[in-house]
Amino acid sequence: MPEATIPYGRQWLDDDDVAAVVEVLRGDFLTTGPAVPAFEAALAAATGAAFAVAVNSGTSALHAMYFAAGLGPGDAIITSPLTFAATANAARYLGADVRFVDVEPDTGNLDPALVEAAIDERCKLLVPVDFAGHPAEYDELRALAKRHGLGLVADGAHSLGASYRGRSVGTLADASEVSFHPVKPVTTAEGGAVLTNDAGLARRAAQFRTHGIVKDRSLLELDEGPWWHEQQHLGYNYRLTDVQAALGTSQLAKLERFIARRRVIARAYDEALADLASIELPGRRAHAEPGWHLYVIRTRDPELRRPLFESLQERGLGVQVHYLPVPYHPYYRSLGYRRGEWPVAEDFYRRAISLPIYPRLSDEALGRCIDAVRSAVLELT
Ligand SMILES: Cc1ncc(COP(=O)(O)O)c(C=O)c1O
Repeated sequence: MPEATIPYGRQWLDDDDVAAVVEVLRGDFLTTGPAVPAFEAALAAATGAAFAVAVNSGTSALHAMYFAAGLGPGDAIITSPLTFAATANAARYLGADVRFVDVEPDTGNLDPALVEAAIDERCKLLVPVDFAGHPAEYDELRALAKRHGLGLVADGAHSLGASYRGRSVGTLADASEVSFHPVKPVTTAEGGAVLTNDAGLARRAAQFRTHGIVKDRSLLELDEGPWWHEQQHLGYNYRLTDVQAALGTSQLAKLERFIARRRVIARAYDEALADLASIELPGRRAHAEPGWHLYVIRTRDPELRRPLFESLQERGLGVQVHYLPVPYHPYYRSLGYRRGEWPVAEDFYRRAISLPIYPRLSDEALGRCIDAVRSAVLELT
């Protein structure tokens, strides 16, 4: 019988996670109740951010974060083309444009040296993406944002648990979005959060999550009585449920262990594949402690990528390509973006293959992955 495919990523749920969810199901609250603020407090404690606003996906966290940072119609963000579409889409939801700036060849992160040329008076936010869980160059990006009066807000969907110069992701920008999709560092099934030290930004994001409605009496414009609440701007129903938040708190207690296992797996790949001259291993900068959400190898020859990808699939590896650059999607092409403007991201995309990496990947399965890559590469080259 063929062995089951090993996915590129997946969740790890134990009995205590299930018990945390069941406890909520037996209680009084299903949607937002006490479990959501408890999860938010746990997120703040885990990252060092002063505030966490939990929402129902990483995408809605991006939307709420951009809104709370002041993005609106006619504005523009600067971000990386090497990301999931949501990073750019959330700006489009607010009527803003997206300026894609090319990436660094080693990490695949937004290249600070190229940002300045893309800035004009419409640019409002600089949005680095911590590709594969490797933090972007925050010191340089912060200096650029300051010099040009831009907000610095991060797409940290991959990087909860990672750090940069000893500082935790979630504290490196004016605000950071994180995602709790099942392949991410910890999961709530669907879910996300905005992390920030800025009380006003946190309040605006929280208001956005629930229709723009305010109940806090000190913030009301009118007050006709104890029943009074008011919608102060257009918002959405982006609330996380207590069921999900309970799962999130239970998962978050395991974040360090999960990240430690990802680091062991990354090191094992590094060591076992180092001698294969026809592939390049992921770049890593000395001042970063990546969270290893993804382990992306690149074939030196772009022509080798497809046969290697197919051969790994045949050998039972659920390999993926991260990412088809966002401006290559037909929707973005229809807005006028053209292939060729981001040569480094293009080159990265044409050679990339994501290998399986997730905390529950057993040593035995990891061994199968390593053997598969070694034998496929040696067979094809
Ligand atoms: C870089 C990046 N940003 C944003 C998102 C959106 O997160 P979610 O799937 O939780 O909406 C993802 C999810 O895949 C992502 O990889």
